[in-house]
Amino acid sequence: QSRKLFPFHISLVGFMGSGKTTVGKELSRLLAMDQIDVDKVIEDRAHMSISQIFKEHGEAHFRALERKTVEELAQYNNIIVFCGGGGIVLDDRNVENMKKNGVLIWLKASPEVVYERISKEGTRPLLKDDMSVAKIESMMASRLSLYEGAADLVIDTDHKTVEAVSLEIVEQL
Ligand code: S3P
Repeated sequence: QSRKLFPFHISLVGFMGSGKTTVGKELSRLLAMDQIDVDKVIEDRAHMSISQIFKEHGEAHFRALERKTVEELAQYNNIIVFCGGGGIVLDDRNVENMKKNGVLIWLKASPEVVYERISKEGTRPLLKDDMSVAKIESMMASRLSLYEGAADLVIDTDHKTVEAVSLEIVEQL
């Protein structure tokens, strides 16, 4: 019954560099919830980094692992903050699974801010051949309606600290 009073999954989606992992960590601390990072679970199980999986097995293989992992983790009925990769919304089934037992929050960031953050963190497989604001802009444009359609709540993260974004989420839950 308590499931109806408080969502026990808080899913964070958003483009690469939107702060899913860092905000997820802070949020799980604030709310005393466990954090599960889909990409991290995939890496641990494959004993390979996401970049290596893309390089050796291709994107389609990664997407299949991603879908299976989301499907499995969505069954957990303890309270969790659910983070994944930016492309998790590309598959409707992932969105459905993440929303089944909770709320889905879109961390929104502009291409310029994403570029800045990713430049500091190290690039991603899908940007390794063209790491530019223009490329980020076009990839983001093709995914915008997916994030929009999936989100129960939208939080703008541009020029905000991880702490500020996390508090804003807690206030709006
Ligand atoms: C991807 C985002 C990455 C990772 C993979 C694909 C994407 O995660 O899952 O490189 O399609 O946007 P982050 O959003 O954590 O960078």
